[in-house]
Parts: sequence; structure tokens; C-alpha cells
Amino acid sequence: MIDDNGITVVAGATGNIGGRVLAELRRRGHRVRALTRSPERAAFPDGVEVAVGDLADPGSLRPALAGASAVFLLTYDAATGAPLRTGPELAKEIAAAGVRRVSTLWGGEPGPVEQAIAAAGLAQAVLRPVEFMSNTLSWVGSIRDEGVVREAFPELRSAMVHEDDIAEVAVRTLTEDGHAGRDYVLTGPEVLTFADRVRQLGAALGRDLRFVELTEEQAKERMRGWGYSAEAVEHVIGWYADPPREGYTVHPDVEQLLGRPARTFADWVAEHAGAFR
Ligand SMILES: NC(=O)c1ccc[n+]([C@@H]2O[C@H](COP(=O)([O-])OP(=O)(O)OC[C@H]3O[C@@H](n4cnc5c(N)ncnc54)[C@H](OP(=O)(O)O)[C@@H]3O)[C@@H](O)[C@H]2O)c1
Repeated sequence: MIDDNGITVVAGATGNIGGRVLAELRRRGHRVRALTRSPERAAFPDGVEVAVGDLADPGSLRPALAGASAVFLLTYDAATGAPLRTGPELAKEIAAAGVRRVSTLWGGEPGPVEQAIAAAGLAQAVLRPVEFMSNTLSWVGSIRDEGVVREAFPELRSAMVHEDDIAEVAVRTLTEDGHAGRDYVLTGPEVLTFADRVRQLGAALGRDLRFVELTEEQAKERMRGWGYSAEAVEHVIGWYADPPREGYTVHPDVEQLLGRPARTFADWVAEHAGAFR
């Protein structure tokens, strides 16, 4: 339901989650403005306004925020691979623009951006997805080429969440009242081990996939090779080595917010099997 016709500014609109938030808002007929640092590299559907700005430089966001009624916010700075340190300045710019709702996607741990937005008295919902199902796409190359999945921590269990569910929840919080001050833990409907995920992928592909255990150092080396910052490597390995309870506990928020069960990993596999062939 559209309850106003204000503009929703979507940070991360060129990325995985923000792109889905943008598409879902458009599908529902909302006015959207995509934020990007690099408009020359971005392509958006017709009807999407584009604004250039950098969350690490909040003053640069003024044109993007002009006339905005809602903002979808990220908390990680891709330039440094670390949490944004500009929370208070971001909050000031967002408040000065008269924004009514903020929906903030956390970076895996409570961070200074969410805290500053809350401290400024803005109506914020914090989205806390535990682990995206789309992280499984990091297995595409080794499955295609060798039928192998390589990971450290073979016992890891995860209540991973489908990225479309994250986006749908974000849209609810951006377009409806009642989410101010709320903190939503976003999980899928089941807890999965690596073995469960490998088995489901193998069944969908009609292949026997092999799991090869990496050492912690090998896993770190691989992330460094993917361009992760030292801080991001430590954060991810820390989560995998000793995940918080919510990382492996099914939480009801997605189902309660969307009024239907959360999407399953089987759903995700059915949609993405082609990428692994
Ligand atoms: N993967 C997980 O399991 C997981 C779990 C919990 C939370 N998260 C968090 O979820 C966030 C979003 O994930 P994703 O997969 O959608 O990321 P993604 O596909 O890598 O996209 C990152 C987006 O962030 C934007 N961005 C980065 N730094 C920016 C800055 N300084 N100013 C403005 N925009 C900036 C980029 O926009 P431009 O390059 O166009 O400017 C890009 O659209 C991540 O930041 C991560 O911290 C991930």
C-alpha cells in the first residue's frame, strides 16, 4: 500500500540487496532515487532517479536527500571495507532533509551508523539479516570446475536468509508506520549446515559434490584474494568461528512481517541452480 508519494532514497542500489529494494519499491509504484558513488557504471530501470553521493562524505548527500521521505541505508563503506564512521553527520543530513523513515541494513554487528540515527531521534528500523543465502554464489567456480566446495568450520550452522525476503522486509519498513525503534532479526525458516547446503545443491544439479575443509588461514587468504579488508576478514572469520546464537536460530520476524513463511534454501537453489552448471 502506498501511504505517501514521497521519494525513497536507496543506498546500495547498484548492489545485491539495495538493487532488490529498489526493484520492489518500483514494483509497488513508489518513487525511488538510487544513490551511487559511480553513476557511469550504474544502470537502472526507467523511472528511477539517480543521485550521486558517498555515505562516507555526508555533505555530498544533500542533492540525493532533497525532498526524500524515506531512506534505505547501509553501514559499510566499500572504499575501506570497514563500517562507516560518519554516523552523526549522516544522521544530521537525513534529519535536516525532513526524512520520516530510515531503514538501516546492519553490517553484521551493531555499528555507529544505527546508533547515531537512533540518537538523532529519527524513526529507524534496523534490519539484522544473519547471513545471506547469496553468499553461496562464492561456490560457483569450484562447483562448476571441480564439483567441490571448500570452507573452513565444517560444523557451522546458519539460519541464512533469502535476499528477496530482506528486500521485502526493507520495503515494509520504508513504506509503513509502526517500525520506528524496531530491530528485526532476519533469518530463513531452517538452520543449515554446509553439508545440508552441499547436499541440496548436488541434488538440484544431479552431481555428487565434495566438501573439502580449509584451515582458518586458508579461508582468510581466500577472502584477502577476494579483496576483503583486514577488518572484514577478521569479522567474517570471527562470526564463522564463534557465531552469535541468533546466527543459528530461526527467528520469526520475516514470517511475522511478511505474513507468510520465509523463503527456503530449496527455493534459492531452484532459482540459482543454473549459475552452478
Ligand atoms: N553477506 C552477508 O551475509 C551479510 C550479512 C549481514 C549484513 N551484510 C551487509 O549487507 C550490506 C549489503 O550487502 P550487498 O550484498 O547488497 O552488497 P554489495 O552487492 O556489495 O553492494 C554494496 C553497495 O554499497 C554501496 N556502497 C558502498 N560503499 C558506499 C558508500 N561509501 N557510499 C554510498 N554507497 C556505498 C555500493 O554502491 P556504489 O558502488 O554504486 O556507490 C553498492 O551498491 C553489506 O554492506 C554488508 O555489510 C551482509
